[in-house]
Amino acid sequence: MNIQRIIEKKRDGLEMSRAEIEYLVKGISDGSIPDYQIAAWAMAVYFQGMNERETAELALAMAYSGEVMDLSPIAGIKVDKHSTGGVGDKTTMVVIPLVAAAGVPVAKMSGRGLSHTGGTIDKFEAIPGFQVERTYQEFMAQVNRVKAAVIAQSGHLVPADKRLYAIRDVTATVESIPLIASSIMSKKIASGAQGIVLDVKVGSGAFMKDRMEAGKLARAMLTIGRSAGREIIVVLTDMNQPLGKMVGNALEVKEAIDTLKGKGPADLEELSLHLAAHMLVLGKNCTSFAIALEKARELLLSGQGLAKFQELVQEQGGRLDYSRADYGLPQANWREKIIAEKTGYISQLDALEVGRAAMALGAGRGKIGDLIDYTVGIKLLKKIGDRVEAGDCLAVIYANGKKSLLNGYKLLKNAFKITDEPVKCGELIIEVL
Ligand code: URA
Repeated sequence: MNIQRIIEKKRDGLEMSRAEIEYLVKGISDGSIPDYQIAAWAMAVYFQGMNERETAELALAMAYSGEVMDLSPIAGIKVDKHSTGGVGDKTTMVVIPLVAAAGVPVAKMSGRGLSHTGGTIDKFEAIPGFQVERTYQEFMAQVNRVKAAVIAQSGHLVPADKRLYAIRDVTATVESIPLIASSIMSKKIASGAQGIVLDVKVGSGAFMKDRMEAGKLARAMLTIGRSAGREIIVVLTDMNQPLGKMVGNALEVKEAIDTLKGKGPADLEELSLHLAAHMLVLGKNCTSFAIALEKARELLLSGQGLAKFQELVQEQGGRLDYSRADYGLPQANWREKIIAEKTGYISQLDALEVGRAAMALGAGRGKIGDLIDYTVGIKLLKKIGDRVEAGDCLAVIYANGKKSLLNGYKLLKNAFKITDEPVKCGELIIEVL
């Protein structure tokens, strides 16, 4: 087999055989194919695409390029959820306890935030003392005992994706549907769950800016999941504006707890219940989506979801004080308001700009290994469709430094647009596949 010939074939729009895909993935994992040839191949895929068969075979070859999680010591049908990345998306912190409270096991391996999108592991690490590293035995034992555990994805899982993603990140080849679909699904397959709910974000703050493209990504991931024998539900959801009101790690933990208390923002509650309900169906806990949605709501309103969250946090060493308004989460030193300059209606609250503002404050990392500040972030007081008077507070910035505050302020101010005419907010849950 010859890598130059494989690149040539893809460049010319021809199909790769299974043997060629497996050869390529092996070469990516063991380092025998150099970065420049991998980059050339990724660019050929960017322009020529891959068909369904090639995409599924790439995902499977990558999934089995390293360790594969064996969840068989856990009793019951294991379910998982994944978001393609958004701003203010803390649904995992709400959904896991709800699903676990129903008795469906969730063995969650999550990633850290990169670029303007947040990561679940960073959010959990904003809780003082919370441990995201566990041995395999501890992880299995905790899921059997508590029905939920959240750990950072092991470095031994899917080495081919780790290397390929790092190369794509610096060669302008991230935005390719077959490459994104195979990257995400390889990790989900290697993580071992039988049922997977995928939240594909659509809009300015998402990888997929328009619905057509998001639909294509969703279908590609469904095909891969099925060919790996997994049950998959894909939900397309809006990411033109951030989800909820809080953006930034400790602030998002607070909002997730508020939501589990039944006092969270309506959009976050709606999406969390919706995703949890699909997971309950996949876990064979409920026979229909309507029953599952009622059950998820009941688990939230009765406080069983919150109790499960408290148990999960305690199990993993986290220390929170639920009697305090801030739950004992770390706080930033400075606050700065963004004020509306005119009267009207919020027509835009650009999720990408809000995410960039949070990054400028120090809530995210530009590259792997950068340190983040858990305390900084943004509280949004107005969202799309809201009426505002000149002088109203649109948002509050939480910062720890003058320069970062100034940079975050400029970006956040630009995220808002106010028009004279009333504006209707788009649908949060766009489609379920
Ligand atoms: N998330 C991933 O894990 N991979 C991609 O390619 C894009 C988003």
